[in-house]
Amino acid sequence: MTDLHAAAHAKLNLTLDVTGRREDGYHDLRMVMQEIALGDDLSLHLDTDAAWSVCTESREIPADGENLALRAAAGFFREAGISCSGLTAFLRKRVPVCAGLGGGSADAAAVLRLLQEHYGCPLPEERLMSLAEEIGSDVPFALFGGTALAEGKGERLTRLDPLQDCFFVLCKPPFPVSTPVLYHAIDRVTIRKRPDTEAVCRALAEGDLPAAAENLYNVFYPLVAEEHPEVLKIAEILRDSGALGVSMSGSGPTMFGLFSEREPAEAAAALLGKRYTDTFLTKPVTSAGASSRE
Ligand code: C5P
Repeated sequence: MTDLHAAAHAKLNLTLDVTGRREDGYHDLRMVMQEIALGDDLSLHLDTDAAWSVCTESREIPADGENLALRAAAGFFREAGISCSGLTAFLRKRVPVCAGLGGGSADAAAVLRLLQEHYGCPLPEERLMSLAEEIGSDVPFALFGGTALAEGKGERLTRLDPLQDCFFVLCKPPFPVSTPVLYHAIDRVTIRKRPDTEAVCRALAEGDLPAAAENLYNVFYPLVAEEHPEVLKIAEILRDSGALGVSMSGSGPTMFGLFSEREPAEAAAALLGKRYTDTFLTKPVTSAGASSRE
């Protein structure tokens, strides 16, 4: 039996813009994405001679073939033409589920990366990326990591200069947001404000953290705020605590603030943590394997 381990890092959307509706029912997006240190712990036991399974304390994620980690493993073995006599994925979930943080996508990407490395890279990079895309729109970025501009459904990735060292305070209020419902809703409204993605790319290139922070924006934010004004309060607390910029990640409802210093970030996390269990202090991750994954 073989044991493999990896950290499956979550992501934040520094910007998220919906630029059009596609014929396949999906939407064209343009977003600056950032890998963060907050992540799940994943272990894979291979050749267990038992039925494939997921072992996790979380009651919120499927433990059957619908689980993204198992779908990723099944896709990998199918594409690579390798057989595996039993697999168990142990998942210690830290990233909240249905939060806009890409936790499930990160688990799937970690499985693909572990298996690809363990079996000596049997899949060409392009095939690995298209397999990631089949599993979910955020999985290609989760494989790519670091800081990137994501376009198309999220699969067209361009490496960006890394975000300067900073701190993120994340806060997920305890109500669910349905991603498909939100995409449906955005088709029926006029988007009045869009992020200035170019300004963020420029700020990253110039190492201008305040300018990057000022331009954080997500077109889904007003839709979520209209239905759940609680996110406005979280944004206010983050700003009052000294965040240089505040936004919502993905389809929400996780709100995040970007801080240049640890102390105010810790104070904000302590304050929000009194009210919201899912509050985290974390940092951006610069992709170590960035060049080899381009
Ligand atoms: O690809 P994923 O399963 O993460 O997408 C979840 C849902 O989000 C899709 O079913 C679709 O409704 C919506 N979506 C979209 N356009 C994208 C990504 C996601 O409409 N680019």
